[in-house]
Amino acid sequence: MSGQVVVGTQWGDEGKGKIVDVLAEKADMIVRFQGGDNAGHTVIVNGKKYVLHLLPSGVLRQDAPCIIGPGVVCNPFVLLEEMATLEAGGLKCDHIIISDRAQILMPYHRYQDKLEEEAAANKIGTTQRGIGPCYADKYARRGIRYHEFIDFDHFKTKLKEVLDFKNKLFTSVYGAEPMDYDTMVKDFEKIYDRIVPMIKETTHIVNDALDANKTVLFEGAQAAMLDINYGTYPYVTSSSPTSAGVTTGAGVAPSRIDTVVGVVKAYSTRVGEGPFVTELLDEQGEWIRKTGGEYGATTGRPRRCGWLDLLVVNHAKMMNGLTDIVLTKIDVLTGLEEIKVCVGYEIDGKVYNYIPSDQAEVAKAKPVYKTLPGWSEDISKMETVDQLPKNCIDYVKFIEDFTGVRISMISVGPDRINNIYVHEIK
Ligand code: GDP
Ligand code: IMO
Ligand code: MG
Repeated sequence: MSGQVVVGTQWGDEGKGKIVDVLAEKADMIVRFQGGDNAGHTVIVNGKKYVLHLLPSGVLRQDAPCIIGPGVVCNPFVLLEEMATLEAGGLKCDHIIISDRAQILMPYHRYQDKLEEEAAANKIGTTQRGIGPCYADKYARRGIRYHEFIDFDHFKTKLKEVLDFKNKLFTSVYGAEPMDYDTMVKDFEKIYDRIVPMIKETTHIVNDALDANKTVLFEGAQAAMLDINYGTYPYVTSSSPTSAGVTTGAGVAPSRIDTVVGVVKAYSTRVGEGPFVTELLDEQGEWIRKTGGEYGATTGRPRRCGWLDLLVVNHAKMMNGLTDIVLTKIDVLTGLEEIKVCVGYEIDGKVYNYIPSDQAEVAKAKPVYKTLPGWSEDISKMETVDQLPKNCIDYVKFIEDFTGVRISMISVGPDRINNIYVHEIK
C-alpha cells in the first residue's frame, strides 16, 4: 500500500502539475482533495502543452481512475469544457469520477467572488473562480453537493432556496443585478446527462484501493502559504492544500499517508496580494519573470517574483511532514552570477528563523540572505546529478541541508522527460 501526496510548498505554481504527471506513471489511482478551478497546471508531454484547472494533472495517464474528491469545489461547466478540450486532442476521459460529496461550485459563487473583490477595501486578488464563496457556503451548510444533483427535482428546489437568498445579497448589499433562476435551471438541465454518470461514492473506491496495496496519488493544488489556517491569512485560498487536507478532503485516515512530496521552485513567485518578503521589484525580478515564463495559467496575471525563501520551505516542511522534495525550474537560474537564498527574517531588529503569524509583522520583515555562486552551463538536457555544474550541485545541497529533507528529483525543464532522478519516491 502506498498513499503518496504531492503538495506545493510556496505560493503555488511550483510545477506540481508536471511532477504529478511524472509520478502518476506508477500510480494506480489519482485523487484531487481540495481547491477547484483556481488552479492552473501546465503539463508538457512530447512538446504538446496541456493546461488543466479542475481536472487532476494525473488525467493524462489514461489507465488510472482519476477522482475529484469530496474536498473539491467543482464547477461542472468548467469540468466539461476541460474534458472536451482533452477529447478533441484524442484523449479519453471515461476514467474521471466525481465524489458525490464534492460541492457543486455554482454560477452564483463566481458572481459573488467578483462582487466581493470589487467592493473590498482590502483586496485578496482572488482568481475570481468562486472558490471562497463556495467554501463559505459549504461551511455555512447551504452548499449543494453532487449527490443532490442526481434527483433533479430536489436540486431545483434547493437551488431556488439558495438563489433567493443570494439574490437578496447581490441586490441589497452590492446593488447588483439578481441572477435568473430559470436560466440557471436550463443550463444545469443541459449538462445533467453528462455529469450524473460520473458521480460516485469515492471514499470506498479510494480506501479499497489502499487496502489492495495499490498506489494512490493525492494531488494538491495551491500551496502551504495559501493554506486557510497556516498561510499568509487573509491573503490565502479557502482550503487546506497540505497533507492534512488529504484526510478530510479525500476521506482517508492520516495513517494511510506514506509519502509526502513537496514541490519547491528554485525561486519564489506569488500571484495576488499579500506579503512576500523576498520579492524583487527591480530588474532582477523582471529577469526571473521573463526567463521563467512567470505568468498565471488561470488569469494570465504576471506573477510576482523573488529569491527562494527557505523559511517558507521549512514552514511547508513542518505543516506537511515532507518526506521528499522535488526541486523545479532550477534551469531558469542558469546564467546568474550569484543567487540569493533567504535564511531569516529581520523584524524590528530581531532575527526570526520561522514565519510569524501576524501578516503585519511579516510585511515589515527584511530578508536575511545567504549568497551562493551561480553557473552558466545549460543544464536543461542533463540527466544525472554528476553532469550538473558544481555550483548548481552546491545550491541543491544548500537547500537539502537547510531543510533536512532529501531532494529526490530535480526538474530541469517543463517537459515530462526533463528530470534528474536522485532517490526513488516510494
Ligand atoms: P503548478 O500550478 O504548480 O502546477 O505550476 P504551473 O503549471 O502553474 O507553473 C509551472 C510552470 O513552469 C509551467 O509553465 C510548467 O510548464 C513550467 N515548468 C515546470 N517545471 C519546470 C522546470 O523544471 N523548468 C522549467 N523551465 N519550466 C518548468
Ligand atoms: P496552483 O494550483 C497560485 C491565489 C490567488 C489569490 C489567492 C486566493 O496553480 O498552484 P482564490 O481564487 O483561491 O480564492 O484566490 O490564492 N491562488 C493561487 N496562486 N497558484 C494557484 O494554484 C492558486 N490558486 C489560488 O492568486 O492570491
Ligand atoms: Mg499553477
